[in-house]
Parts: sequence; structure tokens; C-alpha cells
Amino acid sequence: MSVTVGFDVYGTLIDTHGVVVMLHDMVGEKAVDFSRVWREKQLEYSYRRGLMQLYDTFAICTSHALDYTCVYFKVPLSREQKEELLNAYRILPAFGDVQVGLACAKAAGFRLYAFSNGSAGAIEMLLSTAGIRESFLDVVSVDEVKSFKPNPGVYCHFLRRAGACGSQAWLVSSNPFDVIGAISAGMKAAWVQRSPDAIFDPWGIDPTITVSNLSDLASQIAAYSSQS
Ligand code: 2OP
Repeated sequence: MSVTVGFDVYGTLIDTHGVVVMLHDMVGEKAVDFSRVWREKQLEYSYRRGLMQLYDTFAICTSHALDYTCVYFKVPLSREQKEELLNAYRILPAFGDVQVGLACAKAAGFRLYAFSNGSAGAIEMLLSTAGIRESFLDVVSVDEVKSFKPNPGVYCHFLRRAGACGSQAWLVSSNPFDVIGAISAGMKAAWVQRSPDAIFDPWGIDPTITVSNLSDLASQIAAYSSQS
């Protein structure tokens, strides 16, 4: 059975901090911290909506998190400026190692999927704009089950949609909570640690493999699979 690989999108394929240049024009030197708090709050809102079973789309989590971050940093952005930022979020850039990493994974014969908190429409647009949509057999969104990562149900949904079993299916993510979620749901998982400063959560649930960029991913998955 061939290997199935689900790629996390925001923060793994697509750089959520791609809005920093635009933010710099709006909030000045707070731009990097603003972007970090916006992203952290977006994820927190998704976890909380999942736990409360009060689902709304990831785009809504992003928009509410932007409102929160403006208040946090005391920067009263106008409705138009917020709309500009949210529009930029819909067409964020891919990281530099993504094209080659996906090409290697395809050449290795893996079945590639995008698997995200984002709605299918939002992910289709992001991947198309970044020029990488063709690499994937399909887009699987948590929106189809109205919950968010790391609910185990969304990883089971991914396996069902991809027609894969956990032992032959990998999640690839830069987000430690996503890696731990996938492993807890019976999948293999590769953590993409692009920066040596990135910290993995010390829960005693380690990534199956760790790669420093996507270019190394296919060879490391193949090496792991040939040993096990
Ligand atoms: C994604 O699902 C977790 O934001 C991340 O794309």
C-alpha cells in the first residue's frame, strides 16, 4: 500500500507571517509581535470553538483574532485596513522549500493531500495562488466535520477521506499540537522544524521524524518506511 501524506497548510506550506510587510505599514515596529499574537489567538479561538462545540469557520477565528490583537496592541485599525489584512491572509505565500519538497514527495510515489483547519474554498485559493494546488490529489478540510485540530475526529475524517489506514498515513506539520494530535489518533507524523528555536511540546509524544525543511521530507519518510 502506498504512503499517504497529509500536509498541514497554515504555518507548514503557507507562511502565516507573510502579512508582516503590510502590517509594518499599518502598525510600525510592532508588526512581528502583532503577527505572532494574531496567529496564536487564531489557533486559541479554534481550540476553544472545538471544545465548546461552537463551530464557526477558521476565517471567522482569524477575523475575531485580528479584532482582539488590535485591542491588545492598542492599534485602532479601520474596517478597510482590517479587510485589507484579511484579504492578504487569503493569498499568503508558500515557504521557499515547499515546491521542491512536494515535487520530491510526488516523485517518491506518495499520495499527497492538503489537510487543514481552513475551509476547502479558502485552501483551494491559497494553494492555487501559491502555485502548488496541482501537487495534491485533494483538499481535506475540518469544515466537513465542523470541528478543529487536534480533535481526534478530524484526523479520523482525514483517513476516511484519503482512504488510508493510520499506519500508512503521515501528517506533515510545523505545528507541534497538530503533530501530537495526529500521532494520538494513530497516524505517523513529521514535524517540520524550520528554525532551531522552534520548541516541541514536552508531552512525551514525539514526532515520528523531524525534518528541518520539506526538501528532506520524502527521503526521510522513505528511509523510515523501509526500516519498519
Ligand atoms: C492548519 O490546519 C493548523 O493552521 C493549521 O492549516
